[in-house]
Amino acid sequence: LPVTVYADKLTASKAVAKRIADIIKTKTTKGEMAVLGLATGVTPIAVYDELIRLHKEEHLSFKNVITFNLDEYYPMDATAAQSYNVFMNQHLFSHVDIDQHNVHIPDGSLGLDDIAGFCLAYEQKISALGGLDLQILGIGRTGHIGFNEPGSAPNSGTRLVSLDELTRNDAAHDFGGKANVPSKAITMGIGTIFKAREIILMAWGTKKAPILKKAVEGEISAEVPATYLQLSDHVEFIVDEAAASDLT
Ligand code: F6R
Repeated sequence: LPVTVYADKLTASKAVAKRIADIIKTKTTKGEMAVLGLATGVTPIAVYDELIRLHKEEHLSFKNVITFNLDEYYPMDATAAQSYNVFMNQHLFSHVDIDQHNVHIPDGSLGLDDIAGFCLAYEQKISALGGLDLQILGIGRTGHIGFNEPGSAPNSGTRLVSLDELTRNDAAHDFGGKANVPSKAITMGIGTIFKAREIILMAWGTKKAPILKKAVEGEISAEVPATYLQLSDHVEFIVDEAAASDLT
């Protein structure tokens, strides 16, 4: 499993942003759309900051970019402060020239009966566009990627899932208490992620060191969904020294 260790998360994030910018530029030159799988949470924020800088200072355009976010809490109103929709607008979309019609984020406001159809359509939209050129990932302390918690199947698709207690604890701060953290989410599946032509998992800081060790060196198992990435020949882990500190 290729693991690239950078001295700090800023240097690492700039390298990931450059990779994304290169894909956008290559596709744009060919007159094609770049199809990107994006993540939320703390981990990708410096990547998005660098993409905004590249847009403002180096003319990187997002006109030929289509995005699909990994996940959204359920239930969640798209305009709520903790929604991943608001997060993406704040941290990336409102600062660049992306066409809002090209932005896709799972809809946390659907009625229960409409979720299965929405999830199928999400998968079909990605396929119809020729698949994801790149999927970026963070990793949760349960070993989740997207919100594929322990127990997730390797061939899982976009679906409604229950969040692990540890994940809800980690989100409690953002919601002003664990009781306010939704119990469910809509997430791309492990199978959806695997179909991306390139996968980059990022992890920063000592808090992620134990789970990163399991993901990279542990036995492949549904108990730690990120271990499935060991089976991919198109994945790279990009981490800082702190997150890498437990690796042998
Ligand atoms: C977010 C996502 C999650 C996070 C993970 C790490 O879209 O899918 O898997 O990447 O929970 O979160 P942070 O980056 O906040 O540590």
